[in-house]
Amino acid sequence: MFDGVAPRYDLLNHVLSGNMDTLWRARTVKLLAGEIAAPGTVVVDLCCGSGDLMLALAKRRGATVFGTDFCHPMLLEASRKSATRSAATPLFEADALNLPLAADSANVLSVAFGFRNLANYERGLREMCRVLKPGGTAAILEFSTPPNRAFRAFYDFYSLRVLPRIGALLSGQDAADAYRYLPESVRRFPDADTLAMLMRQCGFTNVRYHRMTFGIVALHIGVKSPHASK
Ligand SMILES: C[S@@+](CC[C@H](N)C(=O)[O-])C[C@H]1O[C@@H](n2cnc3c(N)ncnc32)[C@H](O)[C@@H]1O
Repeated sequence: MFDGVAPRYDLLNHVLSGNMDTLWRARTVKLLAGEIAAPGTVVVDLCCGSGDLMLALAKRRGATVFGTDFCHPMLLEASRKSATRSAATPLFEADALNLPLAADSANVLSVAFGFRNLANYERGLREMCRVLKPGGTAAILEFSTPPNRAFRAFYDFYSLRVLPRIGALLSGQDAADAYRYLPESVRRFPDADTLAMLMRQCGFTNVRYHRMTFGIVALHIGVKSPHASK
């Protein structure tokens, strides 16, 4: 599905979110500033897609930021953008459920709008936990359920009726399925408290979340517990 979306992915992100996606990623980088500041810090941006979060993280001096995704056309897009901005962000193709990374090897794992697409959330969290160093940080930026009912009704109307039409118009019929899938997958995705609970069950401690834009989006942050099972 993401193969077909890749060429127009950035444009659609910005149009459909009214450019708020840029602010959501910027806030994520700000909230992770303490974790990514030290030179030698290893950050891996999972499901990096066309690389927007990866590049925003790499703008801060300090950490070495890697990007990974299992969709080749998305990685090509990320690589092109990385070269344009002279960013040193190595990329590799991999499934986030089965990362080719050693246990306890990364300081920070980030994922923006990719976690929801994983076939198994628990497996995804356990894999993140395996790869993180004890005390390392996982950051999941993802769509969520707005807690206010009135706002949720407006948001449902936009995401179920308006968004798929704009998506089909701008991306062409080949990629239209992706923009029908998007609101459906958001509705199926656990709400903020449930995701936080799942993170705790999978070996994370000090789990908290930050809602953004009336709760359309939430950033979950958790620390790999020193007692997390391998
Ligand atoms: C909606 S895009 C998000 C891209 C980017 N992180 C961003 O913020 O714009 C979701 C990405 O997740 C990737 N993805 C989904 N499931 C994956 C998996 N199991 N392993 C690796 N990448 C995956 C897709 O290929 C796609 O590029």
